Amino acid sequence: MKVWVIIALFSMLLFASGETVYKKKCASCHLGYISMGKLKENFVEYNNTKLHLKAPTLNQLSFRLKQKIGDPSGDKEFHMMEVTSFIQDYLYAPDKSKSVCMKEVLAIFDTMPSMKGKITSEEIEAVAQYLYEYDTKMMDKHSVHYQKFDQALIDAKKEGKIVMVKATSEFCHYCKQMDREVLADEDVLKVLKKDFIAVSVDVYKEDLPMDLKFTVTPTYFFIDSHKKVLLRIPGALTKKDFLHILEEVKK
Ligand code: HEC
Repeated sequence: MKVWVIIALFSMLLFASGETVYKKKCASCHLGYISMGKLKENFVEYNNTKLHLKAPTLNQLSFRLKQKIGDPSGDKEFHMMEVTSFIQDYLYAPDKSKSVCMKEVLAIFDTMPSMKGKITSEEIEAVAQYLYEYDTKMMDKHSVHYQKFDQALIDAKKEGKIVMVKATSEFCHYCKQMDREVLADEDVLKVLKKDFIAVSVDVYKEDLPMDLKFTVTPTYFFIDSHKKVLLRIPGALTKKDFLHILEEVKK
């Protein structure tokens, strides 16, 4: 075998992709993405008798790890290292008292078996990076497509839709909760995609269009294609109330 082939094979082993490691060593217990709505229902109302999960899902783990370990608002590279070292420790010495998951969720599962001797630290590094990015990747995939306001107005006119402007900010807890639990919900997504065009504005980075005023984040503005503000909703809502508002705005 040529030297470069050996080097290539060797580096493939060393730099195992996080996804491959996940599939080989974690996926038998941890499923990938399930929407927050379904997870909440399963854990809170059904005591896991609906989904029969063997462990928290990847999007749950990813979100909680990033929220609970280290400083989420600090430097990203450094934060990823903090999360990685937590995972490294947990895989070798699992202990529910160190856990970052919600109590209701943990109560359902036994402690994870130790993976000492079953996974190398290179593999852990790769899978930790995969886990770190997972939640953001899935949120992008399972969220409405956001447009710039000017384009949204043009499309709203053309397609007979209503523009929804979301006033949000990066470190706003309720904005994230709404994004995860309501805006990424299958039923809400269906209505938003059919009758609305969404615009997302980080109010600490840019101005809201049309000089719109807000006092809290999130605030949701519903605007028709003639730039008339139909409704302004400040604060977080439940899925049921949000769906109700979408129906009201359409009338
Ligand atoms: C045999 C099943 C099983 C396998 C395989 C498994 N886990 Fe787990 N894992 C669990 C269970 C059950 C929990 C929840 C209870 C707990 O926290 O110990 C858990 C919890 C965790 C936690 C959360 C700790 C916390 O703070 O709540 C992390 C992180 C984790 N697993 C990562 C992994 C990674 C990465 C892999 C693959 C390399 C993996 N697990 C493989 C069953 C498994």
